[in-house]
Amino acid sequence: MPTYRVESRQGGYPVVVERGVLARTADWLPPKAGQLFVVSTADVWRHKGAELERALGSVPHQVLYLPGGEEHKRLQPVEELAERMVELGGDRSSVVLAFGGGIVNDMAGFLAAIFMRGIPVVQAPTTLLAQVDASIGGKTGVNLVSGKNLVGSFHPPAAVLIDPALLDSLPEREYRAGLYEIVKAGIIRDAALFAYLAESRAAVLAREAGAVDRIIADSVRMKVEVVSADEREGDLRRILNFGHTFGHALEAHTRYTRFLHGEAVAWGMRAAIHLGQMAGYCSAEDSLDMLDLIGSYGPVPPLDGIYADDLIARLVHDKKTVQGKVHFVLPVRVGEVTVASEVDPATVREAIRSALA
Ligand code: GLY
Repeated sequence: MPTYRVESRQGGYPVVVERGVLARTADWLPPKAGQLFVVSTADVWRHKGAELERALGSVPHQVLYLPGGEEHKRLQPVEELAERMVELGGDRSSVVLAFGGGIVNDMAGFLAAIFMRGIPVVQAPTTLLAQVDASIGGKTGVNLVSGKNLVGSFHPPAAVLIDPALLDSLPEREYRAGLYEIVKAGIIRDAALFAYLAESRAAVLAREAGAVDRIIADSVRMKVEVVSADEREGDLRRILNFGHTFGHALEAHTRYTRFLHGEAVAWGMRAAIHLGQMAGYCSAEDSLDMLDLIGSYGPVPPLDGIYADDLIARLVHDKKTVQGKVHFVLPVRVGEVTVASEVDPATVREAIRSALA
């Protein structure tokens, strides 16, 4: 399986996609590293900690826990872990190893970004969503009550170690939530991946190794290309936010408790597809293909009690909103999206209503 290289202002880093790579974690720690702090959750550690302990062998390390759940992705637990690292003798030579899903990747990455003004982080993602998205690209941060990921920093990792074998025991809901980020990769930039997801649904849902490895490798390659071309989201990287503008509004509105991130993105993509068609960017035929593919990887939790106006009020707090203008990533056809900033608010309302219907 492949190893990719992300180009970054801070020198670039490898993204290794390989069954069993977790067992070689020690090989990927930065040379001359001081104390190693493994940051995980109690739940991930209960299920997978023994595998990482075996992999680290004689490498001394401390395990620190973050609370699980998007509603706990806040500044306070990061500060608490930083205090703990100081108590345990952490210094500028220390290294963080993030071992968990997207929330752990983002929070442990942020902890590394700000601890003693920045120490290296190695990302070892344990969920599908984190393997294909959160662990790659150096975005780190936490949520505010007013919006998702509104405090954070770009802090490229020293390495990303993606072991698809870790997904064999992932709960079904988490697995499907991650698949929506892969559907996103197909829609925004990879028509062949989109076609494969449509043709191979049974193999993908049955987690056949060949199918899982292929969709992960395709999605990772896409993300590596995009973030290497535009690390700081000045231009191309914005396409990765397809489905996220509405999705983040949905997560914030429901206080991060009703939807997994990937599920909110699934609803967000539906809204963006309706908007793309209504605003004249995308044909009805292509829109239907995209909506069908999203539907075929369901179910996602329903939107009962959520109204278009609730979400519209939230859109202005999104990071993609610049000087009051909401930027929407809209589909043009399968494999291509565009960023639109002049979309008629009435059409936005109508599109959200259609997606909620
Ligand atoms: N998840 C979107 C990005 O990494 O830019």
